[in-house]
Amino acid sequence: MGYTFTNESYHILINQAGGLELLVNELNPSQIIVLVDENTENFCLHYLISELHRPFKTISIRSGEANKNIDTCKFVWSSLIKFKADRKTLLINLGGGVIGDLGGFCAGTYMRGIDFIQMPTTLLSQVDASVGGKLGVDFDGFKNMVGLFQNPKAVIINTDFLKSLPYKELLSGYAELLKHGLIASQTVWEELSSVEDITTLDFDRVVHDSVMIKKTVTEEDPTEKGLRKILNFGHTIGHAVETLSFETDRPLLHGEAIAIGMIMESHLSLQKGYISDEEYQNIKAAIIKLYGNKAKSLPTIEQITEIMLLDKKNNNGIIQFSLLNQIGQGNFNQEVDQVALQAALTDYIQ
Ligand code: GLY
Repeated sequence: MGYTFTNESYHILINQAGGLELLVNELNPSQIIVLVDENTENFCLHYLISELHRPFKTISIRSGEANKNIDTCKFVWSSLIKFKADRKTLLINLGGGVIGDLGGFCAGTYMRGIDFIQMPTTLLSQVDASVGGKLGVDFDGFKNMVGLFQNPKAVIINTDFLKSLPYKELLSGYAELLKHGLIASQTVWEELSSVEDITTLDFDRVVHDSVMIKKTVTEEDPTEKGLRKILNFGHTIGHAVETLSFETDRPLLHGEAIAIGMIMESHLSLQKGYISDEEYQNIKAAIIKLYGNKAKSLPTIEQITEIMLLDKKNNNGIIQFSLLNQIGQGNFNQEVDQVALQAALTDYIQ
């Protein structure tokens, strides 16, 4: 079926055959360079070749968060120079969150900014990273520490790419869809949380619904001064759990960690009196049914707190949580004490 949204500064196309070519004709770049990794070079580049009908060059980087750093940026900037990229060059970022965040950052800074298009190929990047203009790389051990807010010329989503994703990756991305339901739409939450087998979903529609939520929130607050913070629901604890898991023999995928974060932050919402015990139990059961109970891989509250204190979203050293007012409505700037955190962890482990 397919969808097109246009907001003030960029287009979002979902499953729109011919859309890329039209946009590129409109932009009329001096040349096109496509950023890929070994996965998208193998599995996704053929789609771009069939859609673009124009010559282009490619820059290939290694996949994975470990490569989302300034060294890889230096390689991309040098490659742009080698290809004689000028200010009318268009960079197309074909890949998941690493390609989108890093490629967008390189485009946004090369010659003080050249045009770029995001073509996200994972579920996580289709419903989250590609929309809202956050770009950047990890630095000195901190995630997304160096970066900028800048919108692409367009986000072009093809849900056929999801067919090449391993189930674990699909499930990881699914956590962000669940989050969008919890913070903004009870209907979306109810549909997504009751699905028996996520591979049977109509991704054309569910990606559309999720992108609508992300787009609405980020348009209202592009630089995260207020409302955009609701998108961090599940991420304050989730990021800490994810970071700590990298030091163990059971590293978690982003969505697996966010799933734990969403349960524990729902418990904090319960303790604040925002959601009922029934709502909390519903959220916990639905998430554990999909992701399993990871109680055995959980760090202590002291370890989690130490990492959370380093989060760049804190205010004067006070950890700020984004919680739920109810299922389908998020809030932000919520302070939580250690006792409440311990209670949330204890309930998860039980
Ligand atoms: N991933 C959260 C945001 O874009 O603000």
